[in-house]
Amino acid sequence: MVGRVAWLDDAPGATRPDPREGAEHPMRKVTKQVAVDGGWDEERRRKVAELFDSMAADWTANHDSVERRASITDALTRGGVRGGRVVELGSGSGMGTRQLAERFDDVVALDLSLQMLLHASGIAGARVQGDSAALPLRTDSADTLVLVNMLLFPGELDRVLTHHGQLVWVNTSAERTPIHLMPEEVVEALPGKWTAAAGRAGTGLWCVASRLS
Ligand SMILES: C[S@@+](CC[C@H](N)C(=O)[O-])C[C@H]1O[C@@H](n2cnc3c(N)ncnc32)[C@H](O)[C@@H]1O
Repeated sequence: MVGRVAWLDDAPGATRPDPREGAEHPMRKVTKQVAVDGGWDEERRRKVAELFDSMAADWTANHDSVERRASITDALTRGGVRGGRVVELGSGSGMGTRQLAERFDDVVALDLSLQMLLHASGIAGARVQGDSAALPLRTDSADTLVLVNMLLFPGELDRVLTHHGQLVWVNTSAERTPIHLMPEEVVEALPGKWTAAAGRAGTGLWCVASRLS
């Protein structure tokens, strides 16, 4: 509930969109509701799964780019991500998972959309279909949770992340990302006290958050 965010200097070449861009996207409202009010039910789960199933075939072609990947790389590097057992939630077609697998040995990709997982080919490690609102993971079992353009389910993240674990939040199009929260909003939504480093690189922004005590 209470926390602080320390912003680093923008990485060289980072771009900043107009912060109003993307504000009207329908996923913006869903993102806020899920993070703040727990606005997730069976109907919404089904609709979101159908939506991303329908976009899976073209997802990589439409969404993977050097500029977007730069924010993931920067989060892992300047954010000081240690790795351990890494779980990427909402892994989609694997843009982030591939980068994680280059750095860490133990990476699990989890997504609600079966079609997204099927299109995440060539990924080392397990691919799991699951709902981040009710993760099929034991309490205190993940050292690093990674969310790239993914809905934030604070209670489940708090349950699954080890006490000294790190939460990595990336919006690869910064404020233009449909599923967008500022780092301050992420820290505010999490139960307990957290501290975070945040930065901008490429077209995106990120934060790496840890519990304060
Ligand atoms: C905007 S896409 C981002 C995909 C990928 N991380 C990327 O940046 O290219 C959001 C992803 O989160 C998944 N997702 C949405 N709600 C989810 C949930 N409750 N549990 C797990 N995955 C979910 C979607 O199926 C989709 O693949």
